Amino acid sequence: MNQRPVVEPGAAGAAEAGPGPGTGALRRPIVAANWKMNLGPSRAAAFFAAFRLGPNVSRVRLQFFVPAVSLAAARTAAKVAAEFGIQNVHWEREGALTGETSAEMAREAGVALALVGHSERRHVFGETDAEVARKTRAVSRAGLTPVVCVGERLEERRAGRLEEVLRRQVGAFVGALAGAKEWMVAYEPVWAIGTGETATPQDAFEAHEIVRAALGEAGPGPILYGGSVKPGNAAELLGVHGVDGVLVGGASLDPAEFAGIVAAAT
Ligand code: PGA
Repeated sequence: MNQRPVVEPGAAGAAEAGPGPGTGALRRPIVAANWKMNLGPSRAAAFFAAFRLGPNVSRVRLQFFVPAVSLAAARTAAKVAAEFGIQNVHWEREGALTGETSAEMAREAGVALALVGHSERRHVFGETDAEVARKTRAVSRAGLTPVVCVGERLEERRAGRLEEVLRRQVGAFVGALAGAKEWMVAYEPVWAIGTGETATPQDAFEAHEIVRAALGEAGPGPILYGGSVKPGNAAELLGVHGVDGVLVGGASLDPAEFAGIVAAAT
């Protein structure tokens, strides 16, 4: 689809990435853990008790999206320089909305980032593009960094609808990024999440190019790849032109495995 090299020459990770759309300004690869509905407070503390990082870890921007009830325990137990995020918010600030958490409340709890529109929110809980946009706006309003997730289903990819789907998803929230002091987007092909299937470097490159083009008016910002990232494939994915970091689900629950992914990024 275009002539640029898929893999950065000599890159072991995005930290080595040369200039290019969205990568030139970003020298620190992002390694983000998405614990999903795993690790309550005591297991979160146990995770950090066992989490050992090698040298050069300051070259990586480390993030943990933990269950809301585990935030306090995780922040207390973490001995590493990391940012914490919430996995979902409601767009209202407060109110009679049983079971929901606002971005303002998350900020008060020490959160710096919020995932928005994760594939499981979209496909298990039926979150719409319009809701993703409202949540993105709410996260920005609260002064948090939205990490907005996009990605196609297998049948959409097979039907040749990759670009259409990604453009529709990005188009829905791109205007809502205007008020954010910082934002990120995560490209996570639905067929690669929790399946052990990983996008090839070429797949990731092409999808990131589409997402970056669709983000046009929002300007440059980091785009993460997610979907079955493991210690054994992280370096290759982080070496892809335009991949600024990784969002890791299953492999982020094990301290040694996640440390292996951080090591691959350094
Ligand atoms: P996975 O999940 O690494 O288990 O595929 C990624 C995600 O859903 O963020």
